[in-house]
Amino acid sequence: MQHLVSLLPYNTFGIDVSAAHFTTCQSVASLKEALKSGVQPILILGGGSNILFTKPVDGLVIRNEIEGMEVVRSFENRVWVKVGGGVLWHDFVQWAVKQDFGGVENLSLIPGTVGAAPVQNIGAYGVELKDVFVKLEAVSLETGKLHHFSAADCAFAYRDSYFKRAGKNKFCITSVTLTLSKKRHRLNLSYGDILRTLQEMGVKKPEIADVSRAVVHIRSSKLPDPAKIGNCGSFFKNPEVERPVFESIRAEFPNLNGFDLPNGKVKIPAGWLIEQCGWKGKRVGNTGAYEKQALVLVNYGGAKGAEVKTLASMIIDSVKTRFGVNLEAEVNIL
Ligand code: EPU
Repeated sequence: MQHLVSLLPYNTFGIDVSAAHFTTCQSVASLKEALKSGVQPILILGGGSNILFTKPVDGLVIRNEIEGMEVVRSFENRVWVKVGGGVLWHDFVQWAVKQDFGGVENLSLIPGTVGAAPVQNIGAYGVELKDVFVKLEAVSLETGKLHHFSAADCAFAYRDSYFKRAGKNKFCITSVTLTLSKKRHRLNLSYGDILRTLQEMGVKKPEIADVSRAVVHIRSSKLPDPAKIGNCGSFFKNPEVERPVFESIRAEFPNLNGFDLPNGKVKIPAGWLIEQCGWKGKRVGNTGAYEKQALVLVNYGGAKGAEVKTLASMIIDSVKTRFGVNLEAEVNIL
C-alpha cells in the first residue's frame, strides 16, 4: 500500500488531489487481501472517468485492475462472456467486434472499465448495458465476501443502478457476464446520426464492425478526448420533465425534440438547455462547457475540482431560472 498518492493519472477530468492510501488489485484474492488492512473508508476506482474529485480522498483508494475475458457459455445464436472488472470497456468492445459478436458495438469508445459499466448502466446510441447484461460478481467492502447479482438485483434504470443507491460504496464489481449475439445480429441503427454516418461512410449493408466504426466517428467528432482535454463525458443526466413543461418550452422552441417515457414524462436533452442558456463553448477560468457538446464540462488544464463544481452549480441555476427544469449531475462528485 502506498501513502499520499496523487490521483492525477487516475481520473479523466485531470484533477490533482491526493489519496491518503492507495493500492491496486489484480485478482479477487488480492482485493480481499487489501480489504484486510482495515483502512476506512474505501473508494473503488475503475477508469476514473465518471468522478470529479473536489478534495483530497481520506481512507484507501483501490484501483480495480482485474483482467480476464472468456466465453463461458455458447448457445446456438448467442454467447455469454465473462469479463474482469478492471478490463477497459472499449478493449472489451473491440474484442467483441473482432469476434463478430453483436450487442455492444453502439457502446464503442465509452471510457472507463467493465466493472464500472453497471454502476451507472452506461448507454449510448440507443443501447444500454442492461440490454446485454446477464449477471455480475462483486466483493462486499465490509465483509470481503463474494456476492452474485442478477439483472433484477442491479435495479438498472437510466444512468442508474443499485450501486448508485443502497449499494453505493459497498461493493467492488469483480466480473460482469454479458450476452452477445454470434448469429442473427440485431443491429440498432435507430439513433440519430448512425444511419447518416454509415451512408457517409459508403456502407450499404452494415455489419457490426461498421456500426462500431460509425459510433467511434460520431463520438470522436463531438466529445473531447480525455487524453487531451480533461472531462467525464456528459456531466448531467438528460432531465425527465412533466409533459406540460415540455409543451411550454416547445411552444417557444418548436425544434426541441423530446423522448416520450412510459411514465408519461418526457426526456429532454440537457445539452440543448445548457446551450440555450449561453454556456456552450464558454470558458470560466480553467473550466467550461465544451464547444461541440454543451453537456460535457471540461478542464482546460490545472482546474480544481471545486471550480468545475461551481461551474456546474451556475449551469444548474441558469437552466432552472430560464426553463424551470432541474438538472442532476451524472458524474459522481466527491
Ligand atoms: N444538443 C444541443 N446542444 C448541445 C448538445 C446537444 O442542442 O450542446 C442536442 C443535440 O442536437 C441533439 C440532442 O441534444 O438533438 C441530443 O444530443 P446527443 O445525441 O449528443 O446526445 P446527449 O443526449 O447529449 C446522450 C448521452 C451520451 C451519449 C449520447 C448518444 C446522457 C446524459 N448522455 O447525450 O452519453 O453518448 O446520448 O447516445 O444520457 C455519457 O453518459 O457520458 C455520454 C456521453
